[in-house]
Amino acid sequence: MVVPGRQDKEEKIYYPPEDLQMNAHVPNFNSYLALYKRSIEEPEEFWRDAAQEFYWKESPSGQILQFNFDVTKGNISMKFMAGAKTNMCYNVLDRNVLDRNLGEKVAYLWEGNLPAHHQTITYGQLLKQVCRCANALKQTGVKKGDRVAIYLPMIPELVVTMLACARIGAVHSAVFAGFSSESLAERIVDAQCSVLVTADGVYRGEKLINLKQISDEALEHCQEKGSPTVQKCVVVKHHTLRASGTDECNKLQTPWNAERDVWWQDIVDSESEQCDPEWLDAEDPLFILYTSGSTGKPKGVLHTVAGYLLYTSLTFKYVFDHHHDDVYWCTADIGWITGHSYIAYGPLANGATSVLFEGVPVYPHVGRYWEVIEKYGVSKFYTAPTAIRLLMKYGREPVEKYDLSSLRVLGTVGEPINPEAWLWYHDAVGQGRCPVVDTFWQTETGGHVLTPLPAATPLKPGSAVRVFRKPWPGIMRGIYGNQERFESTYFRKFPGFYVTGDGCRRDKDGYYWITGRMDDMLNVSGHLLSTAEVEGALSTHAAVAEVAVVGRPHPLKGECLYCFVTLKDSHEFTHDLVEELKGKVREKIGPIATPDFIQNAPGLPKTRSGKIMRRVLRQIARNEKDLGDLSTLADSKVVDVLFSYRCKTA
Ligand code: WT7
Repeated sequence: MVVPGRQDKEEKIYYPPEDLQMNAHVPNFNSYLALYKRSIEEPEEFWRDAAQEFYWKESPSGQILQFNFDVTKGNISMKFMAGAKTNMCYNVLDRNVLDRNLGEKVAYLWEGNLPAHHQTITYGQLLKQVCRCANALKQTGVKKGDRVAIYLPMIPELVVTMLACARIGAVHSAVFAGFSSESLAERIVDAQCSVLVTADGVYRGEKLINLKQISDEALEHCQEKGSPTVQKCVVVKHHTLRASGTDECNKLQTPWNAERDVWWQDIVDSESEQCDPEWLDAEDPLFILYTSGSTGKPKGVLHTVAGYLLYTSLTFKYVFDHHHDDVYWCTADIGWITGHSYIAYGPLANGATSVLFEGVPVYPHVGRYWEVIEKYGVSKFYTAPTAIRLLMKYGREPVEKYDLSSLRVLGTVGEPINPEAWLWYHDAVGQGRCPVVDTFWQTETGGHVLTPLPAATPLKPGSAVRVFRKPWPGIMRGIYGNQERFESTYFRKFPGFYVTGDGCRRDKDGYYWITGRMDDMLNVSGHLLSTAEVEGALSTHAAVAEVAVVGRPHPLKGECLYCFVTLKDSHEFTHDLVEELKGKVREKIGPIATPDFIQNAPGLPKTRSGKIMRRVLRQIARNEKDLGDLSTLADSKVVDVLFSYRCKTA
């Protein structure tokens, strides 16, 4: 983790630019305080007002907010707008097309992996496409409440499928298309999905990924696990369609099971453009999205319809100070919560125009992000510190080649941002005139929970602002199928409060500085990984006797994985073995979890009761020689041995 804050840098305060304030929804700090106060003191009225914008088939029957946040007083629960009937898809599409006359407005500017591949989709077109897809899903047997797994790259069909599910009351479970077949299988089995929607293949930078083959392997794993729930696999013809007539087509074999598989184009294109939305209860499930858990098993975070709609739409509007003529771009993948909340639902609820980007930051060249900003005239830009640190490496020249004068607000998300990266983002990308909103939140919170507002909050590079304690509409409603884990993970430690798992400090001005995870979770390039899950993957190698994984600071990724591996007798620690071990992690979890360091550990530092002392391992990984009190260690010689085997380079 990159610890934010050198004293001299954090002292400088950046005030909101006046031209932004003139037009802003929240134009100054006092108006922010008034809004904050109302949301804290009168949450019911605050959220009732926010709900006015949306369409409710039936109004809520009782209180807007009902909750118990205190485990000592019974089961944890929170409900917003209970009893009201609505539909997410209707609110983000039909309402914009029919009531707000935005049918011709562009919803997405799709930009492919290659700059030559692009496409615009208006709200009107999106609505029709979603209806066709919703009808096709119904034809394949999907009903209200059924779970649909989505394993798609960043293409319009990904948003279309999510919204189609929302329209018919099915629950989508999107899995980031960089996860391995085993990770996909684990998620399909946990949520008992009946349909899988995937694509033939996709280029990510220079790498062609055979998504259908990975999907087939995942479905085989589901069989092996005795859980063959997927009846139909819908396959978007993406790579082969774009590459048709070229040699590229031959690079990809699409395995096919005629009984189970159908091409998207065959079942969606012929469907009707009309599909009545299913009116759902405000608290009916909208989607499940898996996030790493400290026990190793991913948690299926459950979000519901109305609260998530209110929360993502309101935070999008205020945090990016959204206006009708904005062009907004969030570089995240929709397979993560950032994409769900701030590429799909939040922007659509506001009738925003967004860039939907399939590619990577450095392909075909290191100025790609800046090229896209110029191409579409992006005014609000939202990315991750890890991407900023990567692009910073190439200096200002690739940035200065492009006209970035359209930019108004910059945002970051995913991990603490170090002041160096914040300043480069602010000065080189934002040309010193765009506020940087550092948004702290989680899969579980559904939307931003700690963040400055661009026209209202004086900024300190690397810090977050105010906190609150009551439930907010976007908070998760549970872990799918596991109320006990939900309560113990988030509510038991401090009764009456939701616990994020992060540490933070508060400075003299009341600014909060997030210092990083306090549990056994690591944040690699803005992705949360569980040490237990990586340890589990490494342990499946036949040569491994015991393993412990810790985090080590990394200049680009923020944190990277450092693994201590004890081999079984008769096995030798070789370069090939290290590669095999990395391969295991890629196979079990996915490339994002690939360890940077794997070191030979003839023994691990343990207490007399046999507990691994991770603090000591973290210090060895960082080459910190002063290990402090080691009196609880069963065998102190182990530390010297581990230092002697330390990995110096990745
Ligand atoms: C964890 C949540 C929120 C969407 C992406 C990650 C870390 C997130 C920040 C930030 C410091 C941050 C925290 C949090 N985190 N944003 N602005 N400053 N830390 O979602 O995978 O659920 O991870 O990401 O550690 O708990 P996630």
